[in-house]
Amino acid sequence: MLQAAAHLTDQHFRSVAELVQDQVGIRLPPGKRSMIEGRLQKRARALNYRSLNDYVEHLFDTRNFDSELVHLIDSVTTNKTDFFREPSHFEFMRRVAVPELLGGRGAVPRRLKVWSAACSTGMEAYTVAMVLDDLVRRGGKFRFRILGTDISTNVLQQARLGIYPRELAAPVPDEFRRRYFLSARDKARAEVRIAPELRATTHFMRMNLMDASYPVDRDVDIIFCRNVLIYFDKQVQQQVVKRLCSHLRPGGYLMVGHSESMVHDGTIGLRQVQPTIFRM
Ligand SMILES: C[S@@+](CC[C@H](N)C(=O)[O-])C[C@H]1O[C@@H](n2cnc3c(N)ncnc32)[C@H](O)[C@@H]1O
Repeated sequence: MLQAAAHLTDQHFRSVAELVQDQVGIRLPPGKRSMIEGRLQKRARALNYRSLNDYVEHLFDTRNFDSELVHLIDSVTTNKTDFFREPSHFEFMRRVAVPELLGGRGAVPRRLKVWSAACSTGMEAYTVAMVLDDLVRRGGKFRFRILGTDISTNVLQQARLGIYPRELAAPVPDEFRRRYFLSARDKARAEVRIAPELRATTHFMRMNLMDASYPVDRDVDIIFCRNVLIYFDKQVQQQVVKRLCSHLRPGGYLMVGHSESMVHDGTIGLRQVQPTIFRM
């Protein structure tokens, strides 16, 4: 395998950083330079480029630009996620949000809509699905649909497949693991797969949070937008939060990551319920 010459010129780094910020919203200050160089190595090698700078020339060649941009985005996005990551949100959903959204006892059954915006490999969406399915099994009179969206095609492919290394299932409670995960018949493959009934409640779509409008219903009950706003500047954060909230139904909830100080411009009618939980 070729080792592409490891450094970008200032100009090439600036061009990539401007492109990424413009297209995806992710800020790449000079401090991120070696991280980006590391991440572009793999793609440059796959295309047999000896130098990262040659790869950047290839990227900006108009003949390649549209298709290569997809790979660039796959390379520069940080996709870390987990099942039951930041578990207090799922506990809040189960104990408070769902009962309130369903309007108390005796309310007519209805369909809850949950959106995992920036869903990465789908573990957040499937965690929501497990928690909601469990509520239904315990007598909850509702059905549910979950949408997962992300800009990276790689992670969406994994999300649709719903296959994960077995050790990643560790944070999932035993009962849920038994109920919602299938093990590979070949025990040498240390993988689990989300059960088909659960996969059927969840679908995944490519979507850029930077787009001016989102092709999503306007009566979503709960939006999870966690651990992605942190990569955007304040102005982009405000725009994204405003657009997301325009898809929440009145009384709907928005959850952001625990390390994110949520920015909104005060005009969208969001009320803070807990440090990282907001309500329309
Ligand atoms: C760190 S992961 C967070 C995953 C999950 N929400 C969680 O908290 O575990 C951030 C995800 O945001 C996605 N992302 C980054 N910029 C985006 C954009 N402009 N539009 C949509 N998704 C984006 C990345 O591809 C990545 O999968």
